[in-house]
Amino acid sequence: MHIAIIMDGNGRWAKAQGKNRTEGHKIGAKVVKDITTYCSNNEEIKYLTLYAFSTENWKRPKLEVEFLMKLLDNWLKKELETYIKNEVKFEVIGDISKFSKKLQNRIKETKEKTKNFNRLTQVLALNYGSRDEITRAIKRLCDKNEEITEENISKNLDTGINNIPDVDLLIRTSGEVRLSNYLLWQVAYAEMFFTPTLWPDFTPQELNNIIQDFKKRERRFGGI
Ligand code: IPE
Ligand code: IPE
Ligand code: MG
Repeated sequence: MHIAIIMDGNGRWAKAQGKNRTEGHKIGAKVVKDITTYCSNNEEIKYLTLYAFSTENWKRPKLEVEFLMKLLDNWLKKELETYIKNEVKFEVIGDISKFSKKLQNRIKETKEKTKNFNRLTQVLALNYGSRDEITRAIKRLCDKNEEITEENISKNLDTGINNIPDVDLLIRTSGEVRLSNYLLWQVAYAEMFFTPTLWPDFTPQELNNIIQDFKKRERRFGGI
């Protein structure tokens, strides 16, 4: 099973506590750890894709963007041991060429050191936008002079290149009911859940409840 999550609501969570938005991102990072650990211990879940920074998030104040980049770098440095302990493979989708060399190297190193694990693949969507991903995939096909087919487009998306399958279950926290340019192609037949819980308050228990609900849904994929 592939679960994709739009981790939203860090800023509102912080505001409600009278704190700076960055405090919400810090707690949000802790939740990423809890949810990833839960997924690595659930044998049914093989992929967990988390929206961490969108192609549109560059519009935020410079200080917030810088904070998020630093948080990501520190997180990868600190959590490498958790990836190893839980046997989690780390992958990335999105165009990270816009990140600093230091952060790109950290990402490369984390991928390299976790590449042989297979209990769970945790995918971070970084400088990710679905339209950007689809556009880059089509450019690749044109460059290679390959035929434009659904299969070839799928294979040339960032997900396809990394052998990440389509999404089964999509969750968005914080009460917003939109996709915000996330995995538009890959959620074609995903089941969707929108919860009002803000990301810093999201728990493995709530994820477990959503998974139980998901199992009750009948997925027809256009058949009867
Ligand atoms: C999601 O929380 C985290 C990122 C986009 C990095 P937000 O920062 O969007 O929080 P809200 O939506 O403003 O509450
Ligand atoms: C989507 O959340 C991006 C991430 C969770 C990284 P946003 O907060 O950026 O989305 P909008 O602006 O509310 O649609
Ligand atoms: Mg938001």
